Amino acid sequence: MSAASVRVRWEDLPREVREAVQMRLGGRVVDVVHPEGGFTRGLAARVTYAGGEVFLKASPVAARTASHHRAEAMVGRFLPVAIAPEFLWSLVTAGWIVNAFEAVRGREPDLRPGSTDLTGVLDAVGALERELTPCPVPGAGEVGETLSTLAGHWGRLAAEPPGSVGHGTWTASQRARLEELDDAERLSELSAGDTLVHCDLRADNMLSEFDTGRTRILDWSWGARGAAWVDAAFFVPQLILAGHTPAGAETVLAGRVPGWRAVASEAADAFAVALTGYWTWHHTHGPGGALGAYRGRAAEAGRMWVDYRLA
Ligand SMILES: Nc1ncnc2c1ncn2[C@@H]1O[C@H](COP(=O)(O)OP(=O)(O)OP(=O)(O)O)[C@@H](O)[C@H]1O
Ligand SMILES: [Mg+2]
Repeated sequence: MSAASVRVRWEDLPREVREAVQMRLGGRVVDVVHPEGGFTRGLAARVTYAGGEVFLKASPVAARTASHHRAEAMVGRFLPVAIAPEFLWSLVTAGWIVNAFEAVRGREPDLRPGSTDLTGVLDAVGALERELTPCPVPGAGEVGETLSTLAGHWGRLAAEPPGSVGHGTWTASQRARLEELDDAERLSELSAGDTLVHCDLRADNMLSEFDTGRTRILDWSWGARGAAWVDAAFFVPQLILAGHTPAGAETVLAGRVPGWRAVASEAADAFAVALTGYWTWHHTHGPGGALGAYRGRAAEAGRMWVDYRLA
């Protein structure tokens, strides 16, 4: 099954929902394009109607993904359009939540070393701290809460029989060190701050615009208030996944994100260890398919990062 096939399509929405959307748009939908990829079941679709184009994301209010859509609607109205597609409206009808955004014309950026997309991507990552401090979203959750849920997986992995996948090539004493660094409470304290952080910076949550080369950042469902270094830290393993060395990835981000330049080693170490533990655990114990495969690759990148940081 391809990653794309898990998604709901426009024609799968109940008629009442399609009617309500068309009422809100003020015109009939004449064309719908569903993007490839993604790990979420909800609708994601570029919709053309008499008045122009919008990008719709939707899910049943009873589904787990609805909390993402509610969060995106809460955060979306406070995001500058230079950073993210403009948030247009949200409606809840017939058991569905539907969010509408500006439809951006662009493609997923290529993060590989030497890619011409990198300048635009790094400009966008650099703009986050500048544009989103102080945190513009009233009542945003604290990023420490999100990061605490990433931490704690090394303890679980340690309880598994020796030789299991999660243990990888690390020695028992290295694993003991990971467990010690993997401290949810400490990570939560170290990540406190007053920037709106995205918490899911990946190439597939970015669009490199065809006409300007500018990068816009999508999918703000994990947006939270915290230290600006957190988004740079989330992005390091993504750059490693794309072929950068850990040192190269850290350096390129330090050139753009002041908060990352100033981050305490203890904070970056704790973050790298927690995120890698999370991926490792979920790769071996979570669902397979495209998501499981991604987590396996991400765990590998995380492992390279942790080896570099703790060397
Ligand atoms: N405003 C937009 N304009 C154009 N394309 C968009 C827009 N928002 C999202 N997309 C496209 O839809 C895809 C899925 O969007 P997004 O990442 O927001 O969805 P999701 O359902 O939350 O998540 P997941 O990343 O888990 O699949 C993006 O990778 C992008 O290709
Ligand atoms: Mg996404």
